[in-house]
Amino acid sequence: MKTILTGIKATGVPHWGNYFGAIRPALDMVSNLKHKDDRFYFFIADYHSLTSVRDPKVMEEYTYEVAAMWLACGLDPERVTIYRQSDIPEVMELFWMLTCHIPKGDLNRAHAYKAARDENEARGQEDLDHGVNAGLFLYPVLMAADIMLFDSDFVPVGKDQVQHIEMARSIAQRMNGLYKAPKGEKFVLKEPKELIQSEVATVIGLDGRKMSKSYQNSIPLFATENELKKLINRVTTDSLPPEVPKRPEDSFLFKFFELFGSEEEIANLRKRYEAGVGWGEVKQLLHAKANEHFSPMREIYFSLMNDRSKIDTILKEGARKASLDAKNVIRRVKQSVMGR
Ligand code: TRP
Repeated sequence: MKTILTGIKATGVPHWGNYFGAIRPALDMVSNLKHKDDRFYFFIADYHSLTSVRDPKVMEEYTYEVAAMWLACGLDPERVTIYRQSDIPEVMELFWMLTCHIPKGDLNRAHAYKAARDENEARGQEDLDHGVNAGLFLYPVLMAADIMLFDSDFVPVGKDQVQHIEMARSIAQRMNGLYKAPKGEKFVLKEPKELIQSEVATVIGLDGRKMSKSYQNSIPLFATENELKKLINRVTTDSLPPEVPKRPEDSFLFKFFELFGSEEEIANLRKRYEAGVGWGEVKQLLHAKANEHFSPMREIYFSLMNDRSKIDTILKEGARKASLDAKNVIRRVKQSVMGR
């Protein structure tokens, strides 16, 4: 039996990059499961959002958006425990015990914190910690607590999160070396491994750079048909006239099409490029394809968002299940570390 856990920070509807890079690979893992007693936990990391969100209404909205997104993408709450991080107070107990075992210097080197300092430096800010709250600094420890609270074996994440899983593993190793597991238990903390989908290339944005909310080049997962049309029209192309043969490798539109199309459809489009095709036509093809892919999910998403009682029920049940499992782990860790 293996335990697979992943979380998404509640910061608004994910975009195509999140979907193809992390969400869909994690969902595939659920559908390709090998052992029927494998355990899955998918949660909404709302405490992680608290490093930046400052409005409880917004927090609530973001939380529903992530929950609705997962359900719309086909996650089965009977099979997967879906819960809200802040419903599980044991996360905080483990968080503190871990915090006391990670060298501060390791956190100095964490990507998100370093990026914040680099940004201050680039802006000419004298205090490189300007605007950095301690929550942002401790972000990787909270993430380690999320993971180890459920004895997770595997954590499906995007490439940008690998450092965090490595940090979690190193805390587990350190604590397993320091403390004795209670009688009958094999470890104090289970050492987790990251699972990254290596064949998923970085999804590009409208301008060809990596798709990212901060670059304002992203396509939201549940953009309406019309929004989708507008966004696809913004994809950068060159100014070659339709009849000129074109190289698929150089075309952002082609890269987007590859996310959706079947092998045959991709091969056909390649031929069209080589024969000469107008950008307007490619945009139409892409729009149709993307719309076909997302519209069933979009429908479920909006119906869940319009009547949230279903989400409430699922999150409540998820919290109940997750709590039971978390309590067992906390009992074990506390006994090892605190002597009781
Ligand atoms: N840091 C992750 C993100 O921003 C979210 C997250 C929080 C997470 N805790 C986690 C992911 C535990 C996997 C496991 O996307």
